[in-house]
Amino acid sequence: MRQMGQVCGSLRKFFVAAVLVAATAGMTATLAQAQVMARPGWAGSGVTVDPWWKHAVIYEIYPRSFQDSRTSADGDPGTGTLKGIASRLDYLQSLGVDAIWLTPIYPSPQVDFGYDISDYEAIDPAYGTMDDFDNLVQQAGRHNIRVILDMVMNHTSDQHPWFKESESSRTNPKRDWYIWREGRGCASIGAQTSAATAPSAGSNAQPPAKPAPSSANPAPSSAQGCEEHPPNNWESIFGHSAWKYDATTKQWYFHQFYPQQPDLNWRNPAVEKAMFDVVRFWLNHGVAGFRLDAVTQLYEDTSLADAKTLPGKNAYGDPNVDNSLYTNLPEIHDMLRGLRKVVAGYPGERVLIGETYVDTPQELALMYGKNHDELQLPMDTQVGFINKLDAATFRQRINEAETELNGNQPLLVFDNHDRARSWDRYGDGAHNEAIARVIATVLLATRSTALMYYGEELGMKTTTPTRKEDVKDPIGILGWPLEKGRDGERTPMQWDGNLAAGHNAGFSVGKPWLPIPETAATVNAKDEAAKADSLLNWYKRLIQLRQSNHAFHDGTNVMLDHDSENVLAWLRKPPVGPSVLVACNFSAEPKTISVKADLKKAGVRGSFMRTILQSNKGMTPAMDADAVKLEPFGVYIGQVQF
Ligand code: GLC
Repeated sequence: MRQMGQVCGSLRKFFVAAVLVAATAGMTATLAQAQVMARPGWAGSGVTVDPWWKHAVIYEIYPRSFQDSRTSADGDPGTGTLKGIASRLDYLQSLGVDAIWLTPIYPSPQVDFGYDISDYEAIDPAYGTMDDFDNLVQQAGRHNIRVILDMVMNHTSDQHPWFKESESSRTNPKRDWYIWREGRGCASIGAQTSAATAPSAGSNAQPPAKPAPSSANPAPSSAQGCEEHPPNNWESIFGHSAWKYDATTKQWYFHQFYPQQPDLNWRNPAVEKAMFDVVRFWLNHGVAGFRLDAVTQLYEDTSLADAKTLPGKNAYGDPNVDNSLYTNLPEIHDMLRGLRKVVAGYPGERVLIGETYVDTPQELALMYGKNHDELQLPMDTQVGFINKLDAATFRQRINEAETELNGNQPLLVFDNHDRARSWDRYGDGAHNEAIARVIATVLLATRSTALMYYGEELGMKTTTPTRKEDVKDPIGILGWPLEKGRDGERTPMQWDGNLAAGHNAGFSVGKPWLPIPETAATVNAKDEAAKADSLLNWYKRLIQLRQSNHAFHDGTNVMLDHDSENVLAWLRKPPVGPSVLVACNFSAEPKTISVKADLKKAGVRGSFMRTILQSNKGMTPAMDADAVKLEPFGVYIGQVQF
């Protein structure tokens, strides 16, 4: 104990010294930066000096839906603010989170609710001011919470001054900041004008040769009367062609998401420079890192060849296509290495998190960089989006995160603002709360860094609109009824059970931009904080365990009971000291498992467990290693003893 105290003491001194060094060396560290540095990169056990993000719980906030701070309903749009977030820092600290990731808060026409940015170095007035932001970073620092921003680098808003310039003429210096191409079908017009618009050295595609119209692609008529078709059959993730025709300059621009989100041309070095400057701007404001939006979409194949058509149609009625010519191109890695260097130039272990929907653990491993010099935390979506409580698949994927990521740190995630909540994806309608505890346990008691989404800790459910006219998310309007959009997972945070107009569950005095689900009457932060066995308190206990239990903090992750169809069991095995067993029942039947032989195989001496936490009402003080008993969807956590 004494020794541990000394380690803590000297680490604290180290961090105080680091701040002093930064100040005296005349570094341009702002107060906010100093705060990022000052907070130690270690958790409760105090025995390691791992970077802070390795043990972190990162909490995603959708600012529009978290907490409004306006006091009069008059003119209140019923959306959240930065001041509102600051007012909830006590709650976040009591939950135990280490960092908050804010989805985009920059000025935006809000077509994609902030993911269409029109100014990268300011705050959207709907959320507040730059002072509010600086204050939030400072206040969060006092609560031991870091602030991570979303950085959207693949595209801007079509209202961004860069795009306004780019679309103004074919010869504008910013033309090549975006991806403009000739269409197919008006070859003669293309031939007349191509000399003026020949792709520059940094440009990423040549005009294609053959016309091949596709039903998914609109075909505007040109002024000359011929039929215009997009340069190829590439499709937007948000439906229909990924090309939009500009009647003024008679070319098409590329957009992987909404037409109002033109893709930047990352083969143009000026784009990279501008974006890296944006990153520096926010690092100087004390942010602890970035979540890189759609980072796998940055580059496109320069051939601009048609994508292979696959069987079937998507939710928007377009033919399915193979998007490998415009997704996850190897060029991303150079860019990520450059970005990592920028971030590494700042003190305080700033972190790069990636939105990395990839298909295999090998592809995920590449996102860390062959020399661990790209993303520190690409999201591992292989586990959280299995969408079925299938123990064998969970076991395999969690194992892969241990064995296939070249020793890098996995980042698990179950919920975010783009997917139906895990409550509904995993819930069976009868045991949802017990299943939510199982999910929380996988997220927080494996070795991964954990990424959670506001309201997940309460058991908020997905509330999908039932009528097209109520939908706010444009993909829900375009894709109705097959694709109903993402409003369901973005409903306001449920702070308390008072649903009266003017109070709205503590979220806003104005009419909330999305309706508060009626379940808020009982599923809310206030009531759950007061109820010892609530889901909220289950999250709190697991997070405390991560911070205070040596096995949870530093242990490796060893999967046990490999043949069990219904029980996922694993061991957290620290370098020294007792291991901890975690067992989750994935079925609606009670189960009993023996872990004795597996413990032996894992080199752990043990015949019973001393209970640390269990989901059963009433604690069993100990459990025999030969007979670990689990209730339906029950969880057992115990320290192995011999
Ligand atoms: C990411 C975001 C999503 C957004 C899209 C386009 O996938 O998570 O919400 O719509 O990028 O920026």
